[in-house]
Amino acid sequence: MTNRVWFITGISRGLGYALAHAALEHGDQVIGTTRSGRVPDGLPAHNLDVLPLEAGDPTSIEHAFASAYALHDRIDVLVNNAGYGLLGPVETASDQEVRDIFNINLFAPLAIIRHALPKMRDQGRGHIINISSIAGIAPAPGSGIYAGTKAALSAISYALAQELAPFGLWVTSVEPGSFRTDFLSSRSVLRTGSNVDDYAATSGRAVDGLLTKDGKQAGDPRRGALAILEAVNADEPPLDLLLGSDALQRAQTRLDRFDDDLRRWEDVSRGTDFREMA
Ligand SMILES: NC(=O)c1ccc[n+]([C@@H]2O[C@H](COP(=O)([O-])OP(=O)(O)OC[C@H]3O[C@@H](n4cnc5c(N)ncnc54)[C@H](OP(=O)(O)O)[C@@H]3O)[C@@H](O)[C@H]2O)c1
Repeated sequence: MTNRVWFITGISRGLGYALAHAALEHGDQVIGTTRSGRVPDGLPAHNLDVLPLEAGDPTSIEHAFASAYALHDRIDVLVNNAGYGLLGPVETASDQEVRDIFNINLFAPLAIIRHALPKMRDQGRGHIINISSIAGIAPAPGSGIYAGTKAALSAISYALAQELAPFGLWVTSVEPGSFRTDFLSSRSVLRTGSNVDDYAATSGRAVDGLLTKDGKQAGDPRRGALAILEAVNADEPPLDLLLGSDALQRAQTRLDRFDDDLRRWEDVSRGTDFREMA
């Protein structure tokens, strides 16, 4: 299907930019958002509308949707992409830092979904793409709070997919590994304001290792965007779409550990039912 209308948050750079580019090249229409409302350089202007959206501001989200529906009467593919990372041990994240990142990575996508769903349900077709992260499935030390925002987004996506299936709507949680965007650069990622030396061997090591990957990540945003386009074009889109060989490996390690715990503790797990249920 061509000529679909996409609504993509955060197309100024990175994965959002690459996805807007791929959708436009495919012949679809794109409503993309940037914080400034400026059109990013290099995107084909034909079939592209850019709206201002600051994810942390509910009024800005409301205005963006009013403008989007004034431009097009429908949204076929909704992509919650805008987001950022927070690095540092869980203990050192302040209450404000935690609230801020949940606000952008979780509460904003939920508000956006609430704005889009009434019309999408009426249309009887459509696809919600939530850009989560492999961190949400296989969290690592040093990015626990970020992982929490993405785990919540994925979990909600799984429930939402079941709620929306009767309306002909699909939901996909996309879990990228490391992609070569600004994500790890000082333009994007934040670090917790305080630190505790005791975490040097765990969080400290993991964060140092992560930051040395900046600019050398294996994931190609253009290829990631094409993979998402393929999922949107599929007759039966996936519930989870992992992007990158590193994401596959991390997910497998997590699944193996999960399976191991399940089997080793199976008797204990079963033993908690009331006796008459056995
Ligand atoms: N790259 C990776 O390795 C990776 C891995 C897993 C998941 N992800 C996820 O992929 C998504 C895109 O990240 P990326 O890799 O493309 O990073 P990026 O290059 O840093 O781009 C982030 C995008 O989000 C926008 N954004 C951030 N905070 C915003 C806010 N408060 N309001 C509106 N827009 C905001 C940015 O807009 P500005 O230009 O205005 O800042 C930018 O367009 C994120 O959700 C991220 O968590 C990335």
